[in-house]
Amino acid sequence: MVELAKNPAAVETGKRLFLTYCNVCHGSDGKGAKGFPNLTDNDWLYGGSLEAIKQTLTNGRQGRMPAHGEFLGAAKGHLLATYVYSLSQNDVTKTATAPAAK
Ligand code: HEC
Repeated sequence: MVELAKNPAAVETGKRLFLTYCNVCHGSDGKGAKGFPNLTDNDWLYGGSLEAIKQTLTNGRQGRMPAHGEFLGAAKGHLLATYVYSLSQNDVTKTATAPAAK
């Protein structure tokens, strides 16, 4: 499962999903804003493991974090959770975003 986070194609798809569904609140780089948590650091409200991120995504959390499980479905949810997980894994994020950052 965690291996997917090292697969550039999977990370790329996850990134696109992120820009579609999560950008508005968490920012295109996942760094958040006031009231919307930064997803790229290791400071988690609900845990930064792949499973915890998946739970957050699927079921939502308090405040304004909506549940995305139903409309994303399992496959996209998995890619998206993997992407978000990869954001806080610095070495992986660097390889995943290096070409776009230039
Ligand atoms: C409508 C705004 C909104 C959207 C859209 C949104 N989020 Fe959130 N998200 C939040 C808020 C607000 C919180 C903090 C909830 C809290 O404080 O209890 C949060 C929390 C989270 C957390 C938990 C962070 C932690 O520190 O544990 C993750 C992971 C997360 N969001 C991922 C996503 C992903 C991935 C998407 C896209 C599918 C997404 N969010 C879409 C508003 C949003």
